[in-house]
Amino acid sequence: MLTRFGNWLDERMGWRAVWEAIFLRKVPKVNWFYTLGSATLFVAVNQAVTGILLTIYYVPTPDHAYDSVQYITTQVAGGWLIRGLHHWGASVMVVLVVLHMLRVIIYGAYKYPREVTWMTGVVLLLVVIGFGFTGYLLPWDQKSYWATTVGTRIAGVVPFLGDWILRIMRGGNDLSAVTLARFFGAHVWVLPATLLLLVGTHLFLVIRNGISEIPKREARKQ
Ligand code: HEM
Repeated sequence: MLTRFGNWLDERMGWRAVWEAIFLRKVPKVNWFYTLGSATLFVAVNQAVTGILLTIYYVPTPDHAYDSVQYITTQVAGGWLIRGLHHWGASVMVVLVVLHMLRVIIYGAYKYPREVTWMTGVVLLLVVIGFGFTGYLLPWDQKSYWATTVGTRIAGVVPFLGDWILRIMRGGNDLSAVTLARFFGAHVWVLPATLLLLVGTHLFLVIRNGISEIPKREARKQ
């Protein structure tokens, strides 16, 4: 019954070829370090799911941001868990993405023909850092307010463009409701859209080019 439905759908969608290309492709003999990319992907999905759930109660205004986060943590059923998963997931993701990148560097997996996979990876790293930076402000407590004050000031010392970057980030000279709205917009719309596009390209290339082999030591020439 299920097979017949599968065949019916395959005739109309060709889903089997896609499934086989993704899940039944040949891979070289690899080790556990090759799971770091998938582990990052897993945490990214966790961040998306818990992040979407958080937006149900979170309010991105100076008047309500702090209280809404307190409400999520103490009143909403399972809210502490959703927030905890999102909070710790953020740190785990940074650690995993860096370890994944180190694996790629140490094994030389960035070389031909995987340069574009590497380049999309570099931008992904920046996006992950951007998520951390913008998300940190959202609870709108003393720690996040002052951390963002310092963070945006650091961006402000970039030669020539610094002042302009600082004002773009803050939406004015000081941190305000505009900054919070801006960071929220970046955190839930701009960065996720960019991440989706980049991860899509990244994984397409991983499948298209195949996984690199573990480098072997060449026999020394006499
Ligand atoms: C959100 C962040 C990222 C996700 C979800 C992700 C996901 C993945 C996955 C699932 C793979 C295949 C399995 C593996 O090799 O672990 C992979 C491969 C690869 N990734 Fe990433 N990645 C991310 C960030 C990065 C970064 C920061 C870099 C480097 C700057 C990078 C460079 C590469 C390269 C070059 C490959 C091909 C490796 C090979 O063929 O052996 N990725 N990525």
